[in-house]
Amino acid sequence: MASQKDSTTIDRLDECAQAINVAKIRADFPILGTAHRGKPLVYLDNAATSQTPRQVVDSIQDYYYTKNANVHRGVHHLSQVATDVYESSRNKIAQFIGAHVGCEIIFTKGTTEAINLVAQTYGRKHIGKGDEILVSHMEHHSNIVPWQMLCEETGGTLKVVPIDDHGDMIMEEFDTLLSERTKLVSIVHVSNALGTVNPVEEIIEKAHALGVPVLLDGAQSAAHMPVDVKALDVDFYACSAHKMYGPTGMGILYGKATLLEEMPPFHGGGDMILSVTFEKTVFNTLPYKFEAGTPHIAGVVALGATVDYLNTIGMDKIAAYEAALLDYGTQALQQVEGVKLIGTAKNKAGVLSFTMESAHPHDIGQILDDHGVAIRTGHHCAQPVMQHFGVAATARASLAMYNTREEIDALIVALEDVNKVFA
Ligand code: ALA
Repeated sequence: MASQKDSTTIDRLDECAQAINVAKIRADFPILGTAHRGKPLVYLDNAATSQTPRQVVDSIQDYYYTKNANVHRGVHHLSQVATDVYESSRNKIAQFIGAHVGCEIIFTKGTTEAINLVAQTYGRKHIGKGDEILVSHMEHHSNIVPWQMLCEETGGTLKVVPIDDHGDMIMEEFDTLLSERTKLVSIVHVSNALGTVNPVEEIIEKAHALGVPVLLDGAQSAAHMPVDVKALDVDFYACSAHKMYGPTGMGILYGKATLLEEMPPFHGGGDMILSVTFEKTVFNTLPYKFEAGTPHIAGVVALGATVDYLNTIGMDKIAAYEAALLDYGTQALQQVEGVKLIGTAKNKAGVLSFTMESAHPHDIGQILDDHGVAIRTGHHCAQPVMQHFGVAATARASLAMYNTREEIDALIVALEDVNKVFA
């Protein structure tokens, strides 16, 4: 297999693999050593959910075995220990994405809840009849539906920046659609269905020139490249822990403190108040104003451990390795008869979406599963992307820092089998 690839690509891949020590990383993920259907697991569904290293799982056990108590509520020792570890995770994630201060990090269930939070608080306050929200044609449903629901309620309008047949956003159209009517730009950083990395610096600069805030859906970027919200000057950034090698049901919303301060709360309940009488409630300060009820404390602690883990490897090195793996995978896929890549943007992250002449994506997924290769098939919660490319579904292999050249080769062998079965 390797002999058919360009040798520079292979050399670079091997160099990057050594730089992050992929073998050592893999040893931290027990699930990667398991077999499925009698074959070693080849896990290529990382855009849906990434696997979790021992260090992160251990942090959950350690929390429940030695630190479990409610946060911000008790004077007793254990509650203070839980609060300390909870708030220290907030500071870790703040540093990880380059936030100014910890209070700009709001814990949520994930990216979806974070976007809904902005829609239901910032959106309800600032977006009314005649106002526009700008999204792109490559958004995940979670960056479309919350805005549609808001527009239904407030009379705002959703405007959509088209994409071209490579899966790049058409920036001339963005320039035309961005206007004094735009009240928010909400754009995906990296497309889950295509792998496109959007030109977010340019988008933010242009939006800010008109005084328009920008939200980035970072679900597919946080674990795959260095992100610095301060350098980007982005107003809101949302991501999910389970796509970053962390726990499910956990994520964050970053917001600039100046914006979060003037937003109304999302949910009402305990911990988000300073005082309550039947006549009047005074809301808590940041970030607690947005964290009603007992939070997912173990999830927050595990997210802190996840960030520690990623920091020990280094996001620059991870990005370089995944880029090399993507190049290798792209070349390999192009050599399989009947494969058509969906998503060939100028700047891509580790997503290989494709169709095959011989088989429907669901059949591809089934046969790959027989080979122990896990990919996602379907519309990837991005139906407008499928509509643009005139397909009902694609097969999608999505990469992570623990994937290897040999795993891409196993994918290719399985795809060749698809061609044989459906010949
Ligand atoms: N958004 C996730 C994906 O792309 C579930 O698969």
